[in-house]
Amino acid sequence: MAKPKRRYVCQSCGGVATRWQGQCADCGEWNTLVEDAPQTVFSAKHDLSSGGRPIQFTPLDQPGEVPKRQTSGISEFDRALGGGLVPGSAILMGGDPGIGKSTLLLQVSANIASAGGLSVYVSGEEAAGQVRLRAERLGLSKAPIQLAAATSVRDILTTLGMMDTPSLLVIDSIQTMHSDQIEGAPGTVSQVRGCAFELIRYAKENGVTLVLVGHVTKDGTIAGPRVLEHMVDVVMSFEGERSHQYRILRSIKNRFGPVDEIGVFSMEGSGLAEVGNPSMLFLSGRDEPMAGSAVFPAMEGTRPVLVEIQALIVRLQSGATPRRAVVGWDSGRMAMLLAVLEARCGLSFSNCEVYLNVAGGYRLGDPAADLAVAAALVSALGDKPLSTDAVWFGEVSLAGEIRPVAHASIRQRESAKLGFAKAFGPSNGPAPEKGLSFSGLTLLPNLVDRIL
Ligand code: TYD
Ligand code: MG
Repeated sequence: MAKPKRRYVCQSCGGVATRWQGQCADCGEWNTLVEDAPQTVFSAKHDLSSGGRPIQFTPLDQPGEVPKRQTSGISEFDRALGGGLVPGSAILMGGDPGIGKSTLLLQVSANIASAGGLSVYVSGEEAAGQVRLRAERLGLSKAPIQLAAATSVRDILTTLGMMDTPSLLVIDSIQTMHSDQIEGAPGTVSQVRGCAFELIRYAKENGVTLVLVGHVTKDGTIAGPRVLEHMVDVVMSFEGERSHQYRILRSIKNRFGPVDEIGVFSMEGSGLAEVGNPSMLFLSGRDEPMAGSAVFPAMEGTRPVLVEIQALIVRLQSGATPRRAVVGWDSGRMAMLLAVLEARCGLSFSNCEVYLNVAGGYRLGDPAADLAVAAALVSALGDKPLSTDAVWFGEVSLAGEIRPVAHASIRQRESAKLGFAKAFGPSNGPAPEKGLSFSGLTLLPNLVDRIL
């Protein structure tokens, strides 16, 4: 048999190289290649002498079992998952350290345990006493959760095999787990992948809902194991600014439901509380008009959320390179909008520092934010406040056209509900809402004329 080839796997993107290099050829990260355990390859023979066994096929049109979802007792959590936990599914939950992953999952475990399910919470990061302290603080110390501090996947699976099958298994976190059958320290790609594989197989075979907590690196990806995202059924991300109170649970991948629903929570002294109606959270609630502030009716899945966009422009006297900084939005998208405003509307930002902030630590992904951002920028540049009862939405093209966006009528309805009187959006917009006057804008220069 040929000697298995050495291979080196990038700990950041999972790219494979045949020899060690300082830089990963796939993602460009430095010092991320680590030698991986050699792979054994076998060649298939087309009969039973290969040792393989025949597999069963089932026609697609035959009625199969539809997995019944289990509620977590936290409707915002169920909502982000697309309607509850699917037995036998594997969920990866990523998020910055300290954002509240362990808190949320402890609350979910407690709810399931209190509803009569068996929930097992394995912490590889904290001692059982620490988790118990947290549970006390959350008022959950009476919940019949099975708690363990362990990091060996073999020990965990052996123990699980000897007890009743749990309905929920939480592993906090996958980076702390290790398997003695795999080389490498906990947290390396081969360990993380191997441990996840074993745990996922256990979950699928036994119909257990598995939640793996994953750490997130500085650039926002789940640390090391991008590979993990392919192995699980659902990838969730728990977001927010640690200094702010609000947290958003978002699904990035979901084999059982939509990926654009969010769950909104607020971090209280006694854990995470659900925020049932989040549409007003990200407004600053200020009454006086201020230059550079525009309200954008964003959509999160089927749910409207009104957010305030703030722009600040500082003119520089010297010829220093002006700074551009964006919090909560895509900086490339802002550069594009500034370029469109310069090229199509004759405005100049060349000697100006430009800062853009989305209030409340909210991160905008909705492409309809362009018009509100443009309105905030133009208002800041001209030092002309926008009226406080107006909302702005629409996508801006490179040619400076304001293009239609999805869900225009829901955006308007929610704005009207929250007391806004005017909406500016793409012309050929929807029928006007009661209590809201709609003005259609075709080109970006129309917007500039209106503000300046
Ligand atoms: P944690 O769940 O440990 O975060 P993660 O597992 O994502 O690292 O949350 C820790 C933070 O949450 C910590 O900074 C304190 C805060 N917190 C509260 O504000 N209220 C609470 O009831 C709890 C348990 C934590
Ligand atoms: Mg934690």
